[in-house]
Amino acid sequence: MLEGQPALVTGANSGIGRAVALGLAASGADIVINYIVDQPAAEEVAHAIEAKGRRAIVIKADVSNESDVQAMYAQAISHFSTLHVIVANAGLQRDAAIDEMTLEQWNKVIGVNLTGQFLCAREAVREFKRRGVVESVSRAAGKLIMMSSVHQEIPWAGHANYAASKGGIMQLMRSIAQELAPFAIRVNGVAPGAIRTPINRSAWDTPDAYRSLMTLVPYKRIGEPDDIAHAVAWLASDLSDYLTGATMFVDGGMTLYPGFATGG
Ligand code: BGC
Repeated sequence: MLEGQPALVTGANSGIGRAVALGLAASGADIVINYIVDQPAAEEVAHAIEAKGRRAIVIKADVSNESDVQAMYAQAISHFSTLHVIVANAGLQRDAAIDEMTLEQWNKVIGVNLTGQFLCAREAVREFKRRGVVESVSRAAGKLIMMSSVHQEIPWAGHANYAASKGGIMQLMRSIAQELAPFAIRVNGVAPGAIRTPINRSAWDTPDAYRSLMTLVPYKRIGEPDDIAHAVAWLASDLSDYLTGATMFVDGGMTLYPGFATGG
């Protein structure tokens, strides 16, 4: 489905990014694996992709740093000739009560989660516009998929920097989707709920924590990274060709106000 469409995934060494990289490779794409920490983990993802018969390249870059991002795109494009799919996935949390949040915590989260997506989107669009549509591989001139969160919608006490970054991603995504539709560039978001990854380990790794998490999940199971990878593979393919500017909530119903299931 994605043969001839090299894809770049940021933060692809762990968690959701790792599953997305492997999933896009399973759909036929060659993959650029971006990471900032844990090179061995990134190399392991590359080997797994190569074992499936696809090509992979590992590139270290801090997505919040303009020259790092530009160098990463230059290297990726010279390696694979072009890019057709970008998954701006890298993200982090630095949690604090609002009156205790340092400017450093605020700037770190906005820098990686929001500015990082801007920088990756801008370089992607430059390449998509330069190359245009290649009809033999896709109806679109490029697909940009921006990893958001249920917290683009659900306020999150103690995590104001994170929720603000995800709300920002939503309007960044929608604004550029509007701007780029005439160029046949599709831009969509994915909003995961609680997914079993290192970022939220404390929310699922004991039976008590898991039970308490399930009060927020109508579907009564935690999400797995592959749940997100499947959504991304669909968004990257022409099966979703008429979709742009949308956010797919992949959250087991977390955004359905579960507290109202029996009350209200
Ligand atoms: C956060 C996780 C959290 C989930 C649901 C994600 O965006 O990164 O820590 O468990 O949202 O609240």
